[in-house]
Amino acid sequence: MRRREVIKYGALGGAAVAFAGNRGLAVLGGKAAAGPGVPPFSVAMPVPPVLRPTRRTLTTDYYTVTTRESTAEIFPGIATKVLGYEGAFLGPTIRAWSGREVKITHVNALPAAAARRPKMAGHAHGGSGGGHAAALMNPNDTVVHLHGGHTPADSDGHPKDTIAPGAQRLYTYPNEQAAATLWYHDHGHVTEGEHLYRGLAGFYLLSDLEELALGLPSGDRDVPIMLRDAAFDDAGQLTYVMGDFAPRTTILVNGKPQPYFKVKAARYRFRVLNAANERVFGLRLDPAAEMVQVGSDGGLLAAPIPASSVLLSPGERVDLVIDFSAFEPGTRVVLHNDVGREDSTKTVMAFDVQGPARDHSRVPRRLRRRGEVELGAADVTRRIVMTLNLELGRWEMDGKVFDMDRIDQYIRFGDTEIWQVDNPGMNPPIPHNLHLHGVHFQVLDRDGKPVEGHETGWKDTVYVAAGSSVRIKVRFDRHKGLYPYHCHFVDHSSMGMMAQMEIRD
Ligand code: C2O
Ligand code: CU
Repeated sequence: MRRREVIKYGALGGAAVAFAGNRGLAVLGGKAAAGPGVPPFSVAMPVPPVLRPTRRTLTTDYYTVTTRESTAEIFPGIATKVLGYEGAFLGPTIRAWSGREVKITHVNALPAAAARRPKMAGHAHGGSGGGHAAALMNPNDTVVHLHGGHTPADSDGHPKDTIAPGAQRLYTYPNEQAAATLWYHDHGHVTEGEHLYRGLAGFYLLSDLEELALGLPSGDRDVPIMLRDAAFDDAGQLTYVMGDFAPRTTILVNGKPQPYFKVKAARYRFRVLNAANERVFGLRLDPAAEMVQVGSDGGLLAAPIPASSVLLSPGERVDLVIDFSAFEPGTRVVLHNDVGREDSTKTVMAFDVQGPARDHSRVPRRLRRRGEVELGAADVTRRIVMTLNLELGRWEMDGKVFDMDRIDQYIRFGDTEIWQVDNPGMNPPIPHNLHLHGVHFQVLDRDGKPVEGHETGWKDTVYVAAGSSVRIKVRFDRHKGLYPYHCHFVDHSSMGMMAQMEIRD
């Protein structure tokens, strides 16, 4: 095949089929791998354990988290090789309090490894200008990013701040922000896609007193749910080729394939995270039931917003309250993915409703006062263009691939800005999204129309479908320093769809 065809049928194929409105498109790219497989709803969904601090002082909780190679029982009786924080396929959950500092020493206990070029779909080594795509990486260097955290630059997990095998790094999180569902994951550059895929992700749940006073479902009825997909070989081992979306047809929820989760006939709060490399989820319950959106990336919404379906692109979170008391005990409520193409990707998990239970939780009509900050008029307007350059076979942000030695935007600390984020339509259509480090923003509109549901809340990641244009408003008033912004389809960012901004006086 000629280079152009290689690009089209290899690299593009997978990414393109992730797009919701793209059902007519033939499945391109690698053949679907079946893996070992288990029938839906045959394994229980685990809830990742909450990590205990090694030490607590008046102001600070200290943790140590060790990244190592490990195995996980994803399919019954099969040991799948993974990378894990504390060796767990889904890292332990950190529970933090607003205003109380957390310090985490991340230890890299991966074996030393020689630098190499990543294995990529299609255009891997093609293209004269695709130098980035063939960039060397140190496969076992790690970087840890607290996604959604307002973190000083030196603790943010910029891809330049790598931890070599055998080394460690101390990250300080001031937690000077409202309650929110945050998460931590690897952020090496070129390696972030594979590291996330092999298991380097966990929840970081930040609470505050305002949230506590609301009386939302709590304790074992406050459940984090990490959605993703994966491809497996016949031996049940994870297979990863950067940019090759098509074979990733196994849906994993908290690390298990299409699991069931037993619930009481009561209200639950689910903190749903899309941690997939490239998959968009369109969530819906069957039998039909309301999902009440109470939180977005940046924390609680101003008021609850009921929905019958919720769209979530990679990196985004939504907090949903589901009231199972509407169902007879014995009912199986299935969580569907309306934008899945294959049978195996249309079903996410099941909630099996058990007997009734006492339920003192509630969902008040007002959730958040602090959230209604007026951002004021914009000082600066910028335009960001995200596109796959077919000519050069490059995943570009504003016509460029990521370069750590180049600063793409200079931003004055304290300024309010409007960013217009464009994903020019192309054939086949490829979805992207934009994640900004270090700040939360408000989504003004998409294609000129106001957004709805969880997207009306504070966001750090916003979906930008093929051919669409999204405007966000953001005030850069948290920390100064150098921060990345990128597409959170992490295979795209691994291939260069990333840039950096310096926030300064
Ligand atoms: Cu969740 Cu820069 O990433
Ligand atoms: Cu992208």
